[in-house]
Amino acid sequence: MMASPNLYQRLTAEWALLRHNRRNKSGVVSADAQAFFVIENVFAEDELQHLQTHLLAEAKAVVRSKVEWRRGGATGGHELLHSQLWPSLKFLVGDDFQARVQRATGIRTLQLVPKKDTNRLSLLDYRCEADAAAGDGIDWHVDGSIYLGQRWAGILTLFEETAEDTAKLELKPHGKLATLAKAKVLNSLVLFRGDHVEHRVRPMLPGEHRIVLSLLFSDWPVMTFNPSLLRYQARINRIFYGNSDL
Ligand SMILES: [Fe+2]
Repeated sequence: MMASPNLYQRLTAEWALLRHNRRNKSGVVSADAQAFFVIENVFAEDELQHLQTHLLAEAKAVVRSKVEWRRGGATGGHELLHSQLWPSLKFLVGDDFQARVQRATGIRTLQLVPKKDTNRLSLLDYRCEADAAAGDGIDWHVDGSIYLGQRWAGILTLFEETAEDTAKLELKPHGKLATLAKAKVLNSLVLFRGDHVEHRVRPMLPGEHRIVLSLLFSDWPVMTFNPSLLRYQARINRIFYGNSDL
């Protein structure tokens, strides 16, 4: 894919993106975009333990969002950049990890979206207090997209303390439930086309807690100029991270 589109390429891609977002809102997704990939052992074992210890100590610091369709906590990429976690996380935005993602998917132009997008790398926290009736989660959905290229969502599980053997993250490629083993997703990056593959986070049960990194990739990470799509994303960012920056 080209890095900077000319006017014709831009308008064609903008139109296709608008059409795509309209169609996937009504449940129309592409059968060619249902593959997903799992990259295992992302962090060294001692680094993962260090992160877990730090995250559990700081877990109250995340922004909480409790809207009807999504309950949970989040820290945006802009805040992560300045957090104490950054030295442990920064390799995820480096060339070596990018090459690993490209090898795993076979897409040699796949890369993280630009740094200015707080969704490039963010932290999501799901939990349920021991005495609460209902915990965090997000119901079945497909994501909207604001990039002219393919949108690849990556979920990297750092911590998942639940009573279940299956991961809280569930995907439905081709409309069929693909259950992932909890042991398999820990320290693994699950990569999927979030705007084409239905997915959810099963509700947390009392006492359960899950912390993941969310990464956003594209094979052509040029952000749309379309104001209505940008407004949509700003609203999502405000709900997730407490500010609407794109
Ligand atoms: Fe999603």
